[in-house]
Amino acid sequence: MDARVGFIVGLCLMGLTCASPVKFVDCGSSSGKVAMVDINPCSTQPCQLHKGDSYTVNVTFNSGVESQTSTAVVHGIIAGVPIPFPIPEPDGCKSGIQCPIQKEKTYNYATELPVKSEYPPIKLVVEWELKDDSKNDLFCIRFPVQIV
Ligand SMILES: *[C@@H]1O[C@H](CO)[C@@H](O)[C@H](O)[C@H]1NC(C)=O
Repeated sequence: MDARVGFIVGLCLMGLTCASPVKFVDCGSSSGKVAMVDINPCSTQPCQLHKGDSYTVNVTFNSGVESQTSTAVVHGIIAGVPIPFPIPEPDGCKSGIQCPIQKEKTYNYATELPVKSEYPPIKLVVEWELKDDSKNDLFCIRFPVQIV
């Protein structure tokens, strides 16, 4: 292991600036395929989201369609009920994706998830969809989080 890799692994072990792949469930990515979901920083499963902090959600996916646009729709599922969870930048084309989206190409969607201090300290499931021109899901993922 070279020094650079050792340094990065060291940071990860300390739970600092290490993006870790998150366990997720695919909830029907009909026009794409998800390869990986990263939340930064997230050192535990489920991720603990601290009130007042901001997180980067990074989804690597392969598109099965062409699309001019991509729009994120986020819900928090609390006791089985999906509640709309507004994010600062719903436009996927401004979140690391170069639009128009091409078929069979891999993209990294990355955006900020601010955790407001008024959120209740609960466990919930985040459902994150990215919709194409026809409102089909380029990806739909669910992952659990804990707000602390
Ligand atoms: C998202 O993840 C990919 C793959 O690990 C990485 O190349 C890219 O830099 C990440 N983007 C951000 C904004 O973290």
